Amino acid sequence: MDRIVSGKPKEDDSSLDRNLRPRSLDDYVGQSKVKENIRIAVAAAEARKETLDHILLYGPPGLGKTTLANIVAMEKKAGIRITSGPAIERPGDLAAVITNLSEGDILFIDEIHRLPRIVEEVLYPAMEDFGLDIVVGKGPGARSLRLHLTRFTLIGATTRYAMLSAPLRDRFGAVYRLDFYEQEHMETIVYRSASILGVEIDPGGVREIARRSRGTPRVANRLLKRVRDYAQVMADGFISEAVAVEALTRLEVDSIGLDEVDHKVIRTIVEKFDGGPVGLDTIAAAISEEPDTIMDVYEPYLLQLGFLERTPRGRLATRLAYAHLELPYNKGQSSQKALW
Ligand SMILES: Nc1ncnc2c1ncn2[C@@H]1O[C@H](COP(=O)(O)OP(=O)(O)OP(=O)(O)O)[C@@H](O)[C@H]1O
Ligand SMILES: [Mg+2]
Repeated sequence: MDRIVSGKPKEDDSSLDRNLRPRSLDDYVGQSKVKENIRIAVAAAEARKETLDHILLYGPPGLGKTTLANIVAMEKKAGIRITSGPAIERPGDLAAVITNLSEGDILFIDEIHRLPRIVEEVLYPAMEDFGLDIVVGKGPGARSLRLHLTRFTLIGATTRYAMLSAPLRDRFGAVYRLDFYEQEHMETIVYRSASILGVEIDPGGVREIARRSRGTPRVANRLLKRVRDYAQVMADGFISEAVAVEALTRLEVDSIGLDEVDHKVIRTIVEKFDGGPVGLDTIAAAISEEPDTIMDVYEPYLLQLGFLERTPRGRLATRLAYAHLELPYNKGQSSQKALW
């Protein structure tokens, strides 16, 4: 059994993208609080000759959860097994993976919120006591056996912290939330990737790509590659600010990184639902997107920008969103009148 990769499409899996993936904590840009905590945890475990406590990483897609899990293994000089929630369908699947781990190995479970409940229940004692309860036999003769496991570290990653059951959350010794990266760190990431790819770029080009990458390293790498293609054909391979702006405008990525779908989400709320509140499923249906995609990929950044608000009755477009899309804002006037 080697690597089980999650079913979701990963543009990042080509060999080129693997080169862009930082390999050590020093190489990992930004997220300084998380990095510091991990550095300390690794050093402490090392000093006590213990395995690392279980770690939960959560945050929007593309911010570096998988990358960080690999780095933790590297820093701890431990082996890593990679699997995902949907890939582990039955308790037996989990048992097969766990019983193959060596002392101190890291088990990385991506999309851990999608682990079936029956598997989760097997995972609890495995995390807590390094024990695995298995049932042998059938019917009246069936009995439960406890297998003793070698000590391992579970690293779970999720884009949906709220979907994790409380007992599972409680079994992680450390929970780290990854946030969108600041402009400064995004620029460092674009510089770093450009130099690995051997792309010629000036500071204006870096700034522009960084600014339009919605605080997300994966997006930065993707945009850099698209702009590189454009520059190759249109500008002798050199990415200046003007070239970056032209290329990204052509890709329909606007000045703050919103794309066609973000615009559709906002426009739908504003134009079809009078600015909201409107339920996510309704928005999704109106623009023919999966609700999960909107929730995981689009909404977090729109919330971060303050363009959307989550209310108990659904999503609201804020005044900032109207302003960015240059839509006339007259929300609230009618209800105000009614109040008076
Ligand atoms: N801190 C960072 N510094 C530099 N590059 C980074 C950093 N974090 C992520 N990247 C780049 O972004 C890409 C995406 O990161 P990664 O696959 O780890 O994200 P993820 O959080 O696991 O996403 P998903 O939720 O979709 O699984 C990586 O291939 C890497 O090149
Ligand atoms: Mg990942």
